[in-house]
Amino acid sequence: MTETKKKTGGLAGVTAGDSSICLCSAEEENLLYRGYAVQDLATHASFEEVAWLLLRGDLPKAEELNNYRQSLNDMRDLPPSLKMILEKIPATASMMDVLRTGCSALGTIEPETPDTPPFHIADRLIASFPSMLFYWHHYHLNGHAINLNTGEETLAGQILHLMEGKSPVEAYRRCLDVSLVLYAEHEFNASTFTVRTIASTLSDFYSGICGGIGALRGPLHGGANEQAMDLILKFKNNDDAEKGILDRLEQKKLIMGFGHRIYTTSDPRSTIIKWWAEKLSHNSADGYLFNIGETIERVMWDKKSLFPNLDFYSALAYHFSQIPTPFFTPLFVMSRIAGWSAHLLEQRANNKLIRPVSHYTGPEKRNWLYISDRG
Ligand code: COA
Repeated sequence: MTETKKKTGGLAGVTAGDSSICLCSAEEENLLYRGYAVQDLATHASFEEVAWLLLRGDLPKAEELNNYRQSLNDMRDLPPSLKMILEKIPATASMMDVLRTGCSALGTIEPETPDTPPFHIADRLIASFPSMLFYWHHYHLNGHAINLNTGEETLAGQILHLMEGKSPVEAYRRCLDVSLVLYAEHEFNASTFTVRTIASTLSDFYSGICGGIGALRGPLHGGANEQAMDLILKFKNNDDAEKGILDRLEQKKLIMGFGHRIYTTSDPRSTIIKWWAEKLSHNSADGYLFNIGETIERVMWDKKSLFPNLDFYSALAYHFSQIPTPFFTPLFVMSRIAGWSAHLLEQRANNKLIRPVSHYTGPEKRNWLYISDRG
């Protein structure tokens, strides 16, 4: 056996490549997209501006943004054969599986070719992921094919309109827009690294994104927002929440929506989405859930020095926006497609096959044993 090399469980602390897309700083607990602070982006920018920034490297000028919005709107419809495939996916399927399948199917209908313009598939998927999910959802819920052209200007408006069948309340729309900005990018997280690994083999765009969706689906990554909501809903009041969390910690259970691989004392995105969760809680029939969230936050900090990550208060912000829990992780996909695509293109621009080595822990070389000698 070769000499034992330094072990890096889960690649924690390993620098796995260069990237100019996002700075996720543990020291300053800060997050920059292409140099812009996420706080400024969440205050001033729409998701479309951020998607443009991540993909093309700089903020769009006014005319570029208008044209970009228009071209995304023009790409919202789905080919008839994709609609037929979505109709065949069972009503009981996970929504993440619907998006993964929809992405893969689109890759067969509109495959990437050497002539495909660089940002085309990224923009097509940004525009059409909501269409795929809500087409499938309403087809199975009500048995009819919905109209995907809502006339909504923004992706956040389009998502909520497709969900509800009508124009959204502006506060809900902007809250979703902000959450899409916050979810759009986060350097070499598990799903983005998966996308880059697939891209590094010179595979096609859709394969990379399907891999990203698969990685995001897990509860240690994107799936945490749904599990955080399920947990919050278990508690009737603050005392119940405090006791429930202490019991779970005693049993060494993970509390979803807490902790982070990079940040050590706070997640800069959490403060922003917490503000939205609190704001929307005031007009919500079950606004007391916000206080339950704060109780969980306090107990987690007191007992474990763990802080809420983006997923925890996003869950409450979505809930108060009347978004059903099974949509939470798919919304993450509809945003992170921007970051994944930027990384895929960056990987291609300076490609080297990603192929690390493992630390071998198996047996020494052994002699072949004939079946009659195996006892
Ligand atoms: N609830 C309870 N304990 C937690 C915890 C959580 N959410 N997150 C970390 N811990 C504990 C671990 O059990 C471990 O305790 P130990 O040292 O007694 O074994 C310690 O904190 C260190 O955690 P570790 O799993 O080594 O950290 P990591 O960097 O590998 O994991 C996460 C980071 C995000 C995977 C982890 O915090 C987690 O599982 N969080 C919940 C899922 C989640 O919210 N995911 C979304 C991430 S943005």
